[in-house]
Amino acid sequence: MVYQVYPRSFQDSDGDGIGDLRGIEQRLDHLVALGVDVVWLSPVYRSPQDDNGYDISDYQDIDPMFGTLEDFDRLLAAAHDRGLRVVMDLVVNHSSDEHEWFLASRSARTDDKRDWYWWRPAREGMEPGTPGAEPNNWRSFFGGSAWEFDEATGEYYLHLFSRKQPDLNWENPDVRRAVHDMMTWWLDRGVDGFRMDVINLISKVPGLPDGEVRYGAYGDGSPFYTSGPRVHEFLQEMHREVFAGRPEKLLTVGETPGVTIEDGVLFTDPERGEVDMVFQFEHVGLDHGESKWDVKPLRLTDLKATFGRWQAGLAERGWNSLYWNNHDQPRIVSRFGDDGVHRVASAKALALLLHLHRGTPYVYQGEELGMTNAGFTSIDQYQDIESLGHFHELVDAGVVTPEQMLASLRAMSRDNARTPVQWDASEHAGFTTGTPWLAVNPNHVEINAEAERADLGSVFHFYRRLIALRHDVPVVALGDFHLLLPEHEAVYAFTRALDRGPAGEGPDGAASAGSGSSRDELLVLVNVSGTAQEVPAAVLAGWDEADVLIATHDDAGAPSGSTLTLRPWEGLVLRRS
Ligand code: NOJ
Repeated sequence: MVYQVYPRSFQDSDGDGIGDLRGIEQRLDHLVALGVDVVWLSPVYRSPQDDNGYDISDYQDIDPMFGTLEDFDRLLAAAHDRGLRVVMDLVVNHSSDEHEWFLASRSARTDDKRDWYWWRPAREGMEPGTPGAEPNNWRSFFGGSAWEFDEATGEYYLHLFSRKQPDLNWENPDVRRAVHDMMTWWLDRGVDGFRMDVINLISKVPGLPDGEVRYGAYGDGSPFYTSGPRVHEFLQEMHREVFAGRPEKLLTVGETPGVTIEDGVLFTDPERGEVDMVFQFEHVGLDHGESKWDVKPLRLTDLKATFGRWQAGLAERGWNSLYWNNHDQPRIVSRFGDDGVHRVASAKALALLLHLHRGTPYVYQGEELGMTNAGFTSIDQYQDIESLGHFHELVDAGVVTPEQMLASLRAMSRDNARTPVQWDASEHAGFTTGTPWLAVNPNHVEINAEAERADLGSVFHFYRRLIALRHDVPVVALGDFHLLLPEHEAVYAFTRALDRGPAGEGPDGAASAGSGSSRDELLVLVNVSGTAQEVPAAVLAGWDEADVLIATHDDAGAPSGSTLTLRPWEGLVLRRS
């Protein structure tokens, strides 16, 4: 499994209120205790920090806020010594506007690097720099136009994210070569792979046509840049140039908003040589209306349909990633669980539900503690560029009231995931001795790593046991997936099954329980609600002799006869062979 560290909020070692590389090193043993295999580090490169490091001004240096290249090498060695691999974030859909490539590109229309970015003149017949004169109507992900006018050269540049994140022009082979060289430099330094930021946005439809306007003043350009015409070609080229023939075991995962299952298969089919897996976004969009700010309740049947389709779609070719959280998503226990009376049970139930699917699980820092949303009530408490950008775009234009937008942010803002990790009950939760860059959640006095490590019934120990199961029980990692009860609104149920190899062994030779049978099977049952639920008898047929492999509640039992009632947020896994 992969554990994501968002360095700015993980652990501060020097009292400046911002997490850093030495801080991560101090906490590596927490990751070892959890059973982590791979650590994914969100960006630590040199950056003006307009988007917390996803705006990189030097791909081959560390930002002084996080430390030095020497600190990085130390951290990498310390991680490797403990058997942890380290995957870097690769942010190459765009750079910072302070990167030397962009400084050259914007210096003159005739500069050699002009074509490394997307420069376009004003819309025909319009005065450059005036409202509506942008080359097309695309909205940026952070609100407002996706184009910035540059007075000096009289043209606009494209930025799908902030105006300080100009999009690189992947049509230009020199851009691709420079990216490949940089990636090779990091692999030679010892890193174990890359998480590739919005990698399916790197190929744009030539002509950059206007998008449909659904709300506010701007259009949706996503059909023209999501998994665009040359994206597979670019990734195959990257694979050939950077990864092919390297002896180390490396991990690549593409962040791919809007990806379809068909494209997911193409990206992850090992025979095609693109990436190992992708992050799809369907399940984290199920509570969105017209936009993510238009929040609606999750219907469990939608979640089943989504996961069910991805499990089936990538069953033969390709491989799934499994995630609830990352630095862009609200905390899962507050989002799909219950962060009040059922916080512990619902955090465990959701963890069990996800981790028993087939694919590689990702855990975002603090998720293993059942950390909750930030609970901010004033716009002044937010720092996230996306939250502030949309607040201003939608409130200033009168599309929503400030109160409505604050309610949306409370549910959906990325800052919900970015409050510092709660290590202990002390002031600032053991994260820093200074003033944290984003407020620590006051609930750290109860929810913190120190308390949870001491409590075998905690969310932390439950994650630890789930991760151990994946390592030890082949059917958890590899078994076929079959969804049950697709129409049930509260009970999430599925089976996993794996044929054993000869002599009672799993397919990779690992020993598995039982003998004399050729099949190892699991039944996963999770009550995704705060009221007791009876499991339909048909699902239980043949499972009354089964063992309980893991359960959210200590005293859970196998079904007696054909009945089983799950308590609020109770989940369990039965095993038979
Ligand atoms: C996706 C990243 O996860 C997010 O944090 C960032 O703002 C955008 N890509 C732009 O890099």
